[in-house]
Amino acid sequence: MKRFLVLVACLLLSLQAYSASNLIYGPWVSNISETGFTVLWVTEKPSLDYVEVAPDDGSAFEKTERPQYYETAYGRRVSGRYHSVRVDGLAPGTTYRYRIVGQVVKDDSGPYRFHYGPKVRISPKRSSSVRTLSSSAQICRFSVLNDIHFNDERYTKLASGIDLDATDFLLLNGDIVSYTENIDSVAKHCIVPIAAQAARLPLIYARGNHEGRGRDFAKFYGLFPTPTGEFWHSFRQGPAAFIVLDAGEDKPDKSHEYGGQADYDPWRLKETEWLREAVKDPAFVSAPMKICLIHVPTINLKDSWYSQVWITENWGPILADAGIDLMISAHHHKWICSPEGADGKAYPVLVNSNMERMDVVVTPDSISVSTYDVDGALVHQWAK
Ligand SMILES: [Fe+2]
Repeated sequence: MKRFLVLVACLLLSLQAYSASNLIYGPWVSNISETGFTVLWVTEKPSLDYVEVAPDDGSAFEKTERPQYYETAYGRRVSGRYHSVRVDGLAPGTTYRYRIVGQVVKDDSGPYRFHYGPKVRISPKRSSSVRTLSSSAQICRFSVLNDIHFNDERYTKLASGIDLDATDFLLLNGDIVSYTENIDSVAKHCIVPIAAQAARLPLIYARGNHEGRGRDFAKFYGLFPTPTGEFWHSFRQGPAAFIVLDAGEDKPDKSHEYGGQADYDPWRLKETEWLREAVKDPAFVSAPMKICLIHVPTINLKDSWYSQVWITENWGPILADAGIDLMISAHHHKWICSPEGADGKAYPVLVNSNMERMDVVVTPDSISVSTYDVDGALVHQWAK
């Protein structure tokens, strides 16, 4: 009987901890590398939270004191609603479990005597897990979703077919939302519909032309931080090296739609300088397969708009000289396969539809692509 009562007490405490959770969106993982990742989540009220990390060895998470990782600024922990904690010093290609613990801020306005609520487990589950990248992995497998434009139902259905155990990361290839007027709405629509996948798979976000629209546009980067501090960056997983690019807005800066706020021309030049150096990086040069991930494709269509023409003329030759094997894009809301040699470009471009999920498998000598609709039916295939 005593044992039963103890069990009930533990259950009640556990439920209390769960119901008291301050979490509203997340957690999700971004900025994945061989030795670290960033855990992100959003709470309803400002709180002082941290991440605990454990190896994926089957041990009881709470029975051992685990390393704690804090979000800090200038030597002090920071509290707030948007949480972003860097976990570093890890081993490549290794799965780690993590969980979030925190306290709601009651009053931290003074220099001393802060008041917090009780410490509770923030993570919705006992723990989540994520695997670090590894350049020595034999294979690279990832999924791609794009141009969801706030359609939560389609987003959930397309993501539901992802094999979590056989996927290294999920690429969100732009325009998952249509505007960034309110960052809470953006976080909700980017994460909640794919909560099951986001808790396990690192998210790579290649910004589209729509995320830059709306008053909270500058907060968007904080949801998906990168190693460069910009939306452009590169990374390596097994045989595949990736360059992630951002073409910015699609129309000229002076277009009336932007109300005098667009200044993408100099920004794309800055990105061009980064790209010229990124393709010389030994991790990129030595990769058997090289893939560019970008929302707007470098293909010449009859009705191509300003930035698409610009990146085709300016980034196309750099990517061709770098010997990329494939570009994966979005933006056009339909499947486009532009083969190597078309329009004079030296690499193939695949544009994924907004109605399909793309699954990609890369080995040292092959790339295979399959796309699936909301019912899980195979729609397109491509291989190199
Ligand atoms: Fe777009």
